[in-house]
Amino acid sequence: MTGKLYGVSVGPGDPELITLKGLKAIQSADVVAFPAGKNGKPGMAESIAQTYLQPHQEKLPLELPYVQDPDALTTAWAVATDQLYEHLSRDRRVVFISEGDVSFYSTFTYLMLTLRARDTAIEIQTIPGVCSPLAAAAELGLPLTIWAEKLAVLPLLHNLAELETALDWAETVVLMKVNRYYPQVWQILRSRQLLQNSSVVVRATSNQQKIYADLTNLADLSLSYFSVLIVRRSQQWFNSS
Ligand SMILES: C[S@@+](CC[C@H](N)C(=O)[O-])C[C@H]1O[C@@H](n2cnc3c(N)ncnc32)[C@H](O)[C@@H]1O
Repeated sequence: MTGKLYGVSVGPGDPELITLKGLKAIQSADVVAFPAGKNGKPGMAESIAQTYLQPHQEKLPLELPYVQDPDALTTAWAVATDQLYEHLSRDRRVVFISEGDVSFYSTFTYLMLTLRARDTAIEIQTIPGVCSPLAAAAELGLPLTIWAEKLAVLPLLHNLAELETALDWAETVVLMKVNRYYPQVWQILRSRQLLQNSSVVVRATSNQQKIYADLTNLADLSLSYFSVLIVRRSQQWFNSS
């Protein structure tokens, strides 16, 4: 088999944040796969890469549900992997595009592992890109970390005590998927007097981007799934410049 799978990071929203390597992989692909959108709308990765897709390329939307149920996920990954394998076994170049970075909380990892379990000989290449916390920090004009600062990333708060532990340990804390827990997170940040040091960026770098740069008066924010919250415990770098 000479088919090859590329996992391509398309960045957080602005299509210009795709790397040249990622762009070349997309443009030379026979098949471009992506998580299918919901309610008839294109998904995030497809929307970002849309301007680079060519009419002759086959588009392959894969049904990859946003659920926690392990059985439902395993079934969805198996079905998606079958679809990818069908093209790879016909020696086609297949690209799976993922929003943000393809190795950072991305479904691509599960697809890659499922494919490898099925056929160890498949060639797979991962092309890195800009993940949402880096994009959000850039849009806020903040460093994510400097000097010897520690960074904690919490992908999903299963237990609010995890946030307390992270705030004790790291100088910068990033919360992904924060929309579900925002009211509880706001209370914890208030109790630590960190609301002024906390920001939320919604749909970073896209043309729908929203920035909330101080959460003091924003207890009731209703956030999109595509929101990242950054707490920088210290603002000291401001004063030293
Ligand atoms: C499944 S993770 C995917 C992360 C992605 N691979 C990345 O590199 O950023 C989804 C979470 O990433 C964050 N996210 C992804 N894209 C974002 C964007 N453009 N702006 C803000 N947050 C984003 C949100 O916290 C969202 O709940």
